[in-house]
Amino acid sequence: MKGLILSGGKGTRLYPLTYTRAKQLIPVANKPVLFRVIEAIRDAGIREIGIVIGDTGPEIREAVGDGSQFGEVKITYIPQESPDGLAHAVKISQHFLGEDRFVMFLGDNVIQGGISDLIRDFEHNTAWNSQIVLTEVEHPQHYGVAVLDDSGRIQQLVEKPQVPPSKLALVGIYMFDKHVFEAVNAIKPSWRHELEITDAIQWLVTNGYHVYPYVHQGWWIDTGKPRDMLDANSRVLEEIRPQILGKVDEQSEVDARVTVAATAEIINSVVRGPAIIGEYTVIKNSYVGPFTSIYHHAYIENCEIERSIILENARICNVPNRLQDSLIGRNVDVDVADKRPRALKLNLGDYSKVRLAPWEIK
Ligand code: TTP
Repeated sequence: MKGLILSGGKGTRLYPLTYTRAKQLIPVANKPVLFRVIEAIRDAGIREIGIVIGDTGPEIREAVGDGSQFGEVKITYIPQESPDGLAHAVKISQHFLGEDRFVMFLGDNVIQGGISDLIRDFEHNTAWNSQIVLTEVEHPQHYGVAVLDDSGRIQQLVEKPQVPPSKLALVGIYMFDKHVFEAVNAIKPSWRHELEITDAIQWLVTNGYHVYPYVHQGWWIDTGKPRDMLDANSRVLEEIRPQILGKVDEQSEVDARVTVAATAEIINSVVRGPAIIGEYTVIKNSYVGPFTSIYHHAYIENCEIERSIILENARICNVPNRLQDSLIGRNVDVDVADKRPRALKLNLGDYSKVRLAPWEIK
C-alpha cells in the first residue's frame, strides 16, 4: 500500500500568509499540517509516500526532504504543472502508484487520530475497490455529499447540493485500487475546469466497482480559511501531551496544559493552556491565554494574546488591547510608535486583514 498527499493548489483563501508560504506548511500547534498528514500515513505502516506539489514545491521539498526525519518514510515528489483538480493529481501520479492500492490525503486537512486500522483494513480487503471517509457535518450544502444504498455502499455523490440528500460529507481521505485510473482517464473537466475526484468516484460506482464509506466519528478540519486554522489549532492543542522543558522564572505562572520548548523562556508572565511556546521564543511581562500557539524565535513583551497562532520570528510588543483570534505571519513586527503623531502606522501586505476594537475608535 502507498500514500499520496496532495500539496499543490494555490491557497488563495489563506492570503496573505500563503503569498509567501505553502498553506500545508503553516503550523498547527507548532507542527506543519503536512507533517501531521505524513505522520498519520506513516503510523498506518505505509513507507512509500508520493507528494503532489505545485508552485510552492521548492519550499515543500526543503521542509520535508527525503522523508528520513519521519523515520522509515521514503518521499517521492510529483510535480503538477497547474492545480487542475484532485482527480488530475491522481492521474499524474500513476507512474508512482503503479498497481498498488493507495490512500490519498489532502495535505491541508487535519483529522483526529485513529484511522490507521481503517487504512490497514482496506489494504487487505481486496474485494473493495475504494473506500471513502465521510463525516456528519452541519451544513452539507458546502461539501461533497454521499448517498448510501440499502447495503451500505456508496450509491451517489453530489457536489455542494442545494437540498442535501444526507449529512455525510467527504473529508479528504480516499482509498483506491488501480481501477481509479480508468475513472480519472474517463471523466471530463467540470464547469470550474478541474478533474473532480467526486466525478471519478461516481464513475467507479456507475461502472459497478465497489465503493464503501467509512463514517469518521472524531473531528476533521479543512484548514482552508483562517478561522479553520484557529479551530484546528485549538483541537490539536487539546490533544497534545504538555511538557515544560524551557526556562520559567519564579514570577511566572504556567499551568499544566502548556508546552514550553527547551530553549524558550517565560519571564514574569502568565501562560494558560492549552498552549504551546516554540524554540528560542521569549514571553516577557505578558499573558498568553488558552488555545494559542507561538512558534519558534518569536518575541512577545507587554502583551495579552489568546486563541491565536503566531509564526516564526514575529515580534509583538506593547500592544494595548488583548490580541485574540489572530493569525500573525513570519517576521511580523507589531509595536507602539515611540514618537508623535499618535496615529496608527500600518505596513500591511496585500490581503492583510486588521480588526480594531470598536471602543478604541473615536
Ligand atoms: P483546495 O483547498 O481545494 O484548493 P487550493 O489549495 O487551491 O485552495 P484555495 O481554494 O484557498 O485557493 O485543495 C485541497 C488540497 O489539495 C490542497 O492541499 C491543495 C491540493 N491540490 C492539489 O494538490 N492539486 C490540485 O489540482 C488541487 C485543486 C488541489
